[in-house]
Amino acid sequence: MILETTAPLATTAPTQEEQARAWDAAHVMKTYARQPVTFVRGQGARLWDAQGKEYLDFLAGIAVCSVGHCHPRLVSAIQQQAATLMHVSNLYLTEPQAHLARRLVELSDFERVFFCNSGAEANEAAIKLARKRAKSVGGENKVHIVTALNSFHGRTIATVTATGQPKFQKGFEPLPGGFSYVPFNDVDALCAAVNENTAAILLEPIQGESGIHPATREYLQAARDLADEHGALLIFDEVQTGMGRTGRMWAYQSYSVLPDVVTLAKGLGGGFPIGACLARGDAAETFAPGDHGSTFAANPLAAAAAHAVLDIICDEELQANARRMGAHLTARLEALERQYPEAVGGVRGMGLMLALHLRQPIAKQVLACCLENGLVVNAVGDETIRLLPPLIITEADADTAIDILDKAIAASSL
Ligand SMILES: Cc1ncc(COP(=O)(O)O)c(C=O)c1O
Repeated sequence: MILETTAPLATTAPTQEEQARAWDAAHVMKTYARQPVTFVRGQGARLWDAQGKEYLDFLAGIAVCSVGHCHPRLVSAIQQQAATLMHVSNLYLTEPQAHLARRLVELSDFERVFFCNSGAEANEAAIKLARKRAKSVGGENKVHIVTALNSFHGRTIATVTATGQPKFQKGFEPLPGGFSYVPFNDVDALCAAVNENTAAILLEPIQGESGIHPATREYLQAARDLADEHGALLIFDEVQTGMGRTGRMWAYQSYSVLPDVVTLAKGLGGGFPIGACLARGDAAETFAPGDHGSTFAANPLAAAAAHAVLDIICDEELQANARRMGAHLTARLEALERQYPEAVGGVRGMGLMLALHLRQPIAKQVLACCLENGLVVNAVGDETIRLLPPLIITEADADTAIDILDKAIAASSL
């Protein structure tokens, strides 16, 4: 119908993809600048577009499809649960949710879980929890949340306020009060910002959306010490770093700094929407009935998916694979830096959460060239290529990706 208005004289019928693009342009709110590809199928680390062209997926739905596309165990778990019980709401206990909570607690250092559906919701829960707990221990003024500049914590009004990037906040004012921002990895600035009115320090162990910037261990340890000194919570946003991506199940294990609260989403459901906020100590006991909730959170279907993802990560030793493949990719990316010293400025990251820094503003050209040659990556700004492949990739996949990147850099450098 839409195509009638855009192509009234067309002699051939539109393809399904053309029709879908026209409907998307006409009817979906314009929040996304979409790439010129329509994916229709996935298997393992591979995707296929509407024309049948194959791609190697080094983005994994932005760190979501960590066990690859359509992993048979994940597909089977979802199919079985869908045929048994999908949803009854959180007014009732459902067994898959309780099993999942137990599993997450066993695999981490936390005691209780609040389930939700996304990363923003997980952080929203953590912020509410931190404020409630802080008021109970420190009075009505203990409400401030300190976050880092260039962080990303979500798009809801509270989490976009927690996000230390004005470009995401512009136009949505007035923003909720009680948030302040510090330069990332600056211990002195953090010391100056945290005081007796601080309810929580909220940090990504590795800043993801702003281009893969790892915290130093000293910084995270200083945050731990400051939180303890001022009776505040230390919250790690592990929405992107969690679920094995950095080579351990949780990035806090890579850093040996234990937060009070950790937030998860993305890789948790392997593509099925689910998020979680895990807490220990008094933070775990803060919420009382009625304080917070979600209709959909960890319904039997979502919980079954997350259970299968955890099984796959553990049984297939994907944390070890993330470490091995991360080291291999890093070595090959560093070789690209030596090969193209004017174009490539370095490699950042941990495990399979990596970024290639470009010395020239060519990230969008590199991305387009990669896509053309069958590799899916992500450009952050003009100078960063972000790589977040599924944790199942092989050395041959890594080599194929680097060969395509090599070609793309050669074709795009100025
Ligand atoms: C670190 C971090 N926190 C929170 C979010 C928000 O997650 P969601 O898009 O699921 O709300 C993201 C998303 O990119 C993220 O990377």
